Amino acid sequence: GAVSAAGATIPDLVAERHADAAVARPKPFSRPLYVPKTAVPVHRSKTTDFYEMTIREAAVQILPGRKTRVLGYDGMFPGPTVRARAGRRVVIRQWNRLRRDAVVHLHGGLVPPEHDGHPADPIAPGRYRDYVYANRQPPATLWYHDHSHHKEAELVYRGLAGFYLIDDRPERCPNLPSGRYDIPLMLRDARFDKHGQLVFGMDDDNGRNILLVNGRPQPYFKVCRRKYRLRLLNGSNMRHLALRLGNGAELAVIASDGGLLPEPLPATSVRLSPAERVDVVVDFARYREGSRVVLYNTAGSSDATRRVMCFHVGERVPDCGELPDELGDKFDLGDAEVVRDVNLSTDAKRGRFLIDGKTFDIDRIDMRIRCGQTELWRVHNRDRRPATLHNLHLHGTHFQVVERNGRRVSGHETGRKDTVSVPIGGNVTIKVCYDRHLGRYLYHCHLLDHASMGMMAQAEIIK
Ligand code: C2O
Ligand code: CU
Repeated sequence: GAVSAAGATIPDLVAERHADAAVARPKPFSRPLYVPKTAVPVHRSKTTDFYEMTIREAAVQILPGRKTRVLGYDGMFPGPTVRARAGRRVVIRQWNRLRRDAVVHLHGGLVPPEHDGHPADPIAPGRYRDYVYANRQPPATLWYHDHSHHKEAELVYRGLAGFYLIDDRPERCPNLPSGRYDIPLMLRDARFDKHGQLVFGMDDDNGRNILLVNGRPQPYFKVCRRKYRLRLLNGSNMRHLALRLGNGAELAVIASDGGLLPEPLPATSVRLSPAERVDVVVDFARYREGSRVVLYNTAGSSDATRRVMCFHVGERVPDCGELPDELGDKFDLGDAEVVRDVNLSTDAKRGRFLIDGKTFDIDRIDMRIRCGQTELWRVHNRDRRPATLHNLHLHGTHFQVVERNGRRVSGHETGRKDTVSVPIGGNVTIKVCYDRHLGRYLYHCHLLDHASMGMMAQAEIIK
């Protein structure tokens, strides 16, 4: 059966390896893209939008002719999209209708520790919790997801994830595609048994060989001949993505994890490790009416993970005009006063995943950091053999990526980041400054199976 306990070892999975021979996928590009519905506030005050959501089990149609049991915010897979406004408060009342604890984390949110969704702070079954988000941060593509102690990998895999978009105040909005031309795309892989049910095995990255876009395999999406903003999130537990449009057409990269870049950057491909986001603008006016444009994951190893989705190009409609030359502010944390090393490694024999040689202890503070002080972190991936990818995500702040293996980074990695990939046997250097709130924040590998198996630690931000 599925292994879900923390600390599961790889051999536990072998018995399951043959289970999914007969999964029926739909014909590629035969079904329309599902765009998660936008959550509607139950109440709006002068300063605040109030929402209510229920964390529950549900059955949704992912594969043809069958229902798949999932966990969903409001029973949706992925959850409803929350659209917040910069500077305007959001309160979400999360009801837990599961038979187990749940915790909701706003990934990328600059949120005080008590609303950050710490695993030590669960919502008990049948109870609710009000999460308060001030949205005092640059407009950006964030997401919310479960963070239960040693269980986040399984609960997020089973569906507890949704988009949380912070839009700019209307008077300040740059001239970017909006409304139905602004589409969030959550890309993640999954494994199904022959009855179409999700199979979760800890560290089962090889088994999860069907890629889903907003919860459905290989959809098509009808677009008009104009510009679109696509908000790409790698919502996979473990899979790295390398995205590229058919025949290498150009994209404009406009935003990273934490918000708009100073200017649009042309690119032909983008790489995303788990939890990273990038906003791109694609101009479909370049294609003839009736064209089919495939989005590829060039890191995929089979059709189900290589061909992500297909855009069907329709007729021309009025566009929003040229992209602005200037988008967000330049993000520079200045000179660092403190230098640290952070080491990511695996103890394969014991199935443990470590930061600085230690497995996660919810009662331990692993480092103390002065609020407002810039630090330089050199983050090492010590797993050369067996080669294992990792990344690093920080709660409670955004950071600046300086270099990877001694070389400057480019593209979306030059912007505000909260997650960065750490190459096998190599390192990445980041500048970090926690300048918002005092208290305890997690940092961890966002290959969520690694995090659930212990590759997680805590920083305390002090005065
Ligand atoms: Cu997206 Cu600690 O998580
Ligand atoms: Cu990892």
